[in-house]
Amino acid sequence: MTELSHIPVLRGEAVDMLRVRDGGMYLDGTFGGGGYARTILDSAACRLIAIDRDPAAVARARDFAVAYPARFEICEGRISEVSALLESHGVTALDGAVFDLGVSSYQIDDPARGFSFRQNGPLNMQMGGSKRDAAQIINFCSESEIADILYEYGDEKASRKIAKTIVERRRTQKFETTSDLAGVIRSIVRPDKSGIDPATRSFQALRIAVNEELSDIAAALAQAAALLNAGGRLVVVSFHSLEDRIVKRFFADACGRLAGASRHDPAGFARAPAARFTLVTKSAVGPSDAEMRANPRARSAKMRVMERLAT
Ligand SMILES: C[S@@+](CC[C@H](N)C(=O)[O-])C[C@H]1O[C@@H](n2cnc3c(N)ncnc32)[C@H](O)[C@@H]1O
Repeated sequence: MTELSHIPVLRGEAVDMLRVRDGGMYLDGTFGGGGYARTILDSAACRLIAIDRDPAAVARARDFAVAYPARFEICEGRISEVSALLESHGVTALDGAVFDLGVSSYQIDDPARGFSFRQNGPLNMQMGGSKRDAAQIINFCSESEIADILYEYGDEKASRKIAKTIVERRRTQKFETTSDLAGVIRSIVRPDKSGIDPATRSFQALRIAVNEELSDIAAALAQAAALLNAGGRLVVVSFHSLEDRIVKRFFADACGRLAGASRHDPAGFARAPAARFTLVTKSAVGPSDAEMRANPRARSAKMRVMERLAT
């Protein structure tokens, strides 16, 4: 079996934006394979607290605690609980925070995690700490709930037809594997000119629902922003438009700008800090052509940065 790895996206750009300095206290909210974390820790004699909901990522981080004694700590948990997680480690203020959202290659490339329609595996898709797996949604949610998930989180036009077929099929045989589900979706959605697998949108939607990804982002941004010291920056790298819309709107709101309404308007906005911020990136920053060529997964990445003002 090939060894899994993860190539961090926009790593140099994101860490540069943090302006890491000696003695500073930073947060990496999405540790993953530790690519960002290592670059932050090697940039200055700073301290870094990292979070990941995935026990496998937390296990990888244990080596960091040895390599960077007294400078690095890891917490297992969800970014929606960032304030409480940091407080339990005695951290009440930050000089910068970064979130590199979504799944890592460690997760998506491991068939046993059940994220991929390309390789067969159990219908799981849990990053860690979620209430239900993908099989529970597919086998037990109502037809309308499944259709809504596929439409809202995957923009799948055939959502109703797919949901109907799933519910009919599960009466005689429950879904257990990614290949089984992908096969049913492919029997309904014909490939288009883009060459994208017809199961792509539905798998993305299920993953987002299983892990409650969008509500976690909204809560995490509000809490992390509230912890920033003056001059501290919040750096967020997102990978699809649903994530980016939340980030863009939150940043606009925190910087006193108006953004368009969103059907994913997160509850976390109501608790956005009164503190004032300024946008560092006027529009989203994407990867260079060279990075896209070297790592196709970087293609959809967007980075946004805001900075806490000294008020
Ligand atoms: C794209 S990877 C991060 C890669 C990392 N920057 C690196 O350089 O290796 C995203 C990681 O964030 C974690 N993650 C995603 N959403 C999360 C959430 N809501 N709470 C905690 N961790 C989350 C995932 O488990 C995954 O390990």
